[in-house]
Amino acid sequence: MERGNFGSKIGAVLASAGSAVGLGNIWRFPTECGSNGGAAFILIYLMCVFFLAMPVMVAEFVIGRSSHSNVVGSYRVLAPGKPWVVSGFMGVLAGFLVLSYYSVVAGWTLDYTCESLVGNLMSGSDFGQHFNDFVSSPWRPALFLTVFLLLTHYVVATGVEKGIERYSKIMMPLLLLIIFVLAAFSLTMPNAMEGLRFLLTPDFSKVTKDVVISAMGQAFFSLSVGMGTLATYASYFNKETRLFSSAVGVCTIDTLVAVSAGFIIFPAVFSVGVSADSGPGLVFITLPYVFQEAFGGVPVLEYIFSGLFYVLLLLAALTSSISMHEICTAYIHETFKLSRPKAATIVTALCLLMGIACSLSFGLWKEVTVMGKGFFDLFDFITAKFLMPLGGLLICTFVGWDMNKKLVAQELDSRFTPLLMVLFSWVAPIGIGIIFIYGLISG
Ligand code: ALA
Repeated sequence: MERGNFGSKIGAVLASAGSAVGLGNIWRFPTECGSNGGAAFILIYLMCVFFLAMPVMVAEFVIGRSSHSNVVGSYRVLAPGKPWVVSGFMGVLAGFLVLSYYSVVAGWTLDYTCESLVGNLMSGSDFGQHFNDFVSSPWRPALFLTVFLLLTHYVVATGVEKGIERYSKIMMPLLLLIIFVLAAFSLTMPNAMEGLRFLLTPDFSKVTKDVVISAMGQAFFSLSVGMGTLATYASYFNKETRLFSSAVGVCTIDTLVAVSAGFIIFPAVFSVGVSADSGPGLVFITLPYVFQEAFGGVPVLEYIFSGLFYVLLLLAALTSSISMHEICTAYIHETFKLSRPKAATIVTALCLLMGIACSLSFGLWKEVTVMGKGFFDLFDFITAKFLMPLGGLLICTFVGWDMNKKLVAQELDSRFTPLLMVLFSWVAPIGIGIIFIYGLISG
């Protein structure tokens, strides 16, 4: 079966950066940072990125490019008959579960993008009520979830070069431009420096073991590592793509976007003088209010700022969902020898069903729980606490200990290979292992 390929190095890096940059950077990073010690959290986060998540990313790149196969097939090529293939199946499951609940929030984002573009978020309504009515309704979120999944489906079904690469090359520069414009805008608001101080003042007294667990979880989620997303993308890399420098590029773009999102959100929030909420509350309740207050006198500015912000969030969500869809599509396409559009249709249909279950857990199915959690929280818990860290641990251990050393060195082709081998074999597995076990014990 003919395999797709990224046509250029820049396309490969932009697609991987697109997978990394997502909702996690824009709504999760700033609030995690603000409430967990500001610059002290950033420092711990950077250490988690450098010593734990980045080695997993490079290891995924090595596995993907050397096998030229989907995430399950790659272990069959590189370690036939060995149990490592379980890690591949875990990746497909993680990608599928994350995509299912991620699409729900992405659907909300799509709704808010449309609402802000038609001027609905400027009506001075009660944004808390508006959001709660919206997410608990059975139909509207499901409709937007469906449209979002169909957009994702279209790009994936179109192919690696004509779909994923082509749209990443359009969406990522646009996203970076919007971030830059919004951050510049936000930093010039009155009282903006208060917001920066909140975000950046290091407070080491807030740093506890739980903060370290959060930082690792954030690093894994934000960089999309541990699921095999990047192994799947790397299977489309050409031989000229340098794996280590590409990983450094992706980590740098991802971190810059996360910090810039803080530069957009906190100066605006402090300028208006409201308290910074977290998660969905921040993005869908506090921010519309902030946009209204900050630009109340000049509706056109409010319209532009809020419209650009939700478009930014939507682009970020889309480039990430495409990569999670691709893990599953590539697996079905290559394993069952189905055409790419057919494989993508199966993934989209199944995700839609699971996504609707997650969406209903905010309303009609609020009482339906498994292990005390609704579907949305359950999928988040299984992937963030279990599948992604364990996946990362297995990926590094495989490349560090069991994969053919010559092949690894040949793929890396870097003067940093000895350092990377130490990271794959010792630092990352031990670090991830300790934090993973502690996270499970502490629930
Ligand atoms: N890496 C993606 C994000 O941060 C999943 O949203």
